[in-house]
Amino acid sequence: MSGSTPQKSAIARGHPKPRAATGSDASSGLEMDREQMLQLANQVAELLVGRIEGLPEDVAWEGDFKESLQDQLLSDPPEDGRPAGEVLTRAARKIMPLAARIDHPRFFGFIPSSPTWPGVLADFLVAGHQVNQCTWLTSSGPSQLELVVIDWIRKWVGYPEGAGGLLTSGGSVATITALVAAREAARRGGPPTAYMSDQSHSAQIRAARIVGVEREHVRLVASDRRFRLDMEALADAVARDRAAGRNPIAVCANAGAGSTGSIDPLPELADFCESEGIWLHVDGAYGGFAVLTERGRKLLRGMERADSIGLDAHKWFFQPYEAGCLMVKDVNTLENAFAVPHDMLQDTIWGAGHPNFSDRGPQLSRSVRALKIWASVQTFGMGAFRRAISKGMELAARAEDYVHSSPMLEMLNPTSLGIVCFRINPAEVGLGEPALDEINREVLASIFWGGRAFISSTLLHGTFSLRLCILNHTTTWDDVRETLEAIERSGGEAVPESVAGETPVA
Ligand SMILES: Cc1ncc(COP(=O)(O)O)c(C=O)c1O
Repeated sequence: MSGSTPQKSAIARGHPKPRAATGSDASSGLEMDREQMLQLANQVAELLVGRIEGLPEDVAWEGDFKESLQDQLLSDPPEDGRPAGEVLTRAARKIMPLAARIDHPRFFGFIPSSPTWPGVLADFLVAGHQVNQCTWLTSSGPSQLELVVIDWIRKWVGYPEGAGGLLTSGGSVATITALVAAREAARRGGPPTAYMSDQSHSAQIRAARIVGVEREHVRLVASDRRFRLDMEALADAVARDRAAGRNPIAVCANAGAGSTGSIDPLPELADFCESEGIWLHVDGAYGGFAVLTERGRKLLRGMERADSIGLDAHKWFFQPYEAGCLMVKDVNTLENAFAVPHDMLQDTIWGAGHPNFSDRGPQLSRSVRALKIWASVQTFGMGAFRRAISKGMELAARAEDYVHSSPMLEMLNPTSLGIVCFRINPAEVGLGEPALDEINREVLASIFWGGRAFISSTLLHGTFSLRLCILNHTTTWDDVRETLEAIERSGGEAVPESVAGETPVA
């Protein structure tokens, strides 16, 4: 028998070290000593760095069915713990990888997101400080930091002094928050109505419903052939609603619709909303940060005239989730809508210039979201961010050129921001729509199960389209080219079978 006590060997295996005390002073057993803490942090850092290094050669997606995952994971919580190193390694090797690798250089599906390492570490730093950034009293340093970051974003989007906002979990909550302010600013009576294009993200529809717009009063206005909101259709819808005694509270515009990257006619929408006295919210969750580049600024002209703008730093500003942002032209509109005095929080009022961020949105307990943005910008500088955003647009433009020059592929909409919509449509074959749909769905499935890259699809006014969204700062042209080549190859394999029995279109 060895000389070690059960307690000593438990410590050696990474169990917490109990303190010598009794009764209510006895350790609960939830602490760890310094060496363990550092060793574990190092172990997690090693796991993460190894993961990031291995991504380019790894598959872009991994997942499993519920039965199998349930068998592996379903268990009652243990009464006694086990070594933390084992627990965290198991999570890193067996649980976390069963997911879309959204930060993979060949992940082009939905809206990718590739965080910078200082941003990841900032979230770790934040978790380790357990600051509650609800009020100035509980978080003066982080609150000032959020003011700084919000002011950076204010200048980037071209908002005047006096504009402000807050960081949110994401674009969904940014829109909900904006529409609460819009509703409060439009207390005119009559059932509220909200307007957005038929290309708007489901998050916009949901936000309108959450703030009390009845399902049948969320107007999905027709979009034109380039998937931009049709101004005439909007004007008609508003006029009809006003005539029926309804209360138009907001128009939500796309500054990068998720499907195609299309940008609604922002200057015209600003003119219209100003003349009608309707709140204009711009959903720039995906595309808003393109404003940092010369090209993006031109494309997004007019965004600065909106009453509010939502942007997601966890999309095209390379941050870990959750890093959404809502900017409003007049910050008082948020505080008028959200500030609710509470006796228990009476000590937290510090007066002018010391905002309690919980007065600007729906969350009381809030994490410090500004640190990741601030730390990444301080580390790399804005030049690097501009270059990284431009790179996405440049790769998308190159992908479009590739599609144009391929006899197997067809562009379905001009590239907008980082999104390329296209499909397999071999020029010489002349397939009809049902066969094209079938072939493209087959190709999508074959790329998916192949694993080397991840793409997704969308419907363009009903037409099935493959779609690449190129945002990742680590993506190279080789990654994009390899993926397009794989799509062509897979299309080549799919065409002969599906063509059988199809009548060629003249
Ligand atoms: C255009 C657009 N708007 C809104 C959202 C919703 O944002 P979040 O998922 O950050 O809540 C998304 C998400 O992808 C989006 O692409």
